[in-house]
Amino acid sequence: MRIAIINGPNLNLLGKRETDIYGNMPFETFFETLKQKFPGHELSYYQSNVEGELINEIQRVGFDVDGIVLNPAGYTHTSVAIGDAIAAIKAPVVEVHISNVHAREDFRKLSHVSGKAVGSIFGLGLKGYELAIEFLVGSL
Ligand code: DQA
Repeated sequence: MRIAIINGPNLNLLGKRETDIYGNMPFETFFETLKQKFPGHELSYYQSNVEGELINEIQRVGFDVDGIVLNPAGYTHTSVAIGDAIAAIKAPVVEVHISNVHAREDFRKLSHVSGKAVGSIFGLGLKGYELAIEFLVGSL
């Protein structure tokens, strides 16, 4: 199966950014281990800090891949347009957050994505991406 992983703003700083919350590993390093865990599947990775670029990528892959693992980061809580993009495409989207957004500030409890996603995972660290892929490839 073809699975696209899409990360939103500031996730290019994983490994450097608020390591007490987000951990020490850059996503690129983690992505290599993910590919090894799913050798029979084609995984792609895209990250942008720009809302419109994320929407372009969701639209670009959204009619081709079998599933999308999406961490819209800060845009989760603000972007009606990313929610609309998810509703517009064919591929199922699993929303992932590294941290437990419900145990943090109140503004992080609102998601414009959850209602459009097939499901959401939060608070399980980078493991959440792996679980989302397992779900999408049908092994959960
Ligand atoms: C995040 C949670 C968001 O609230 C935050 O803005 C992020 C990362 C997470 O993965 O825990 O940038 O999506």
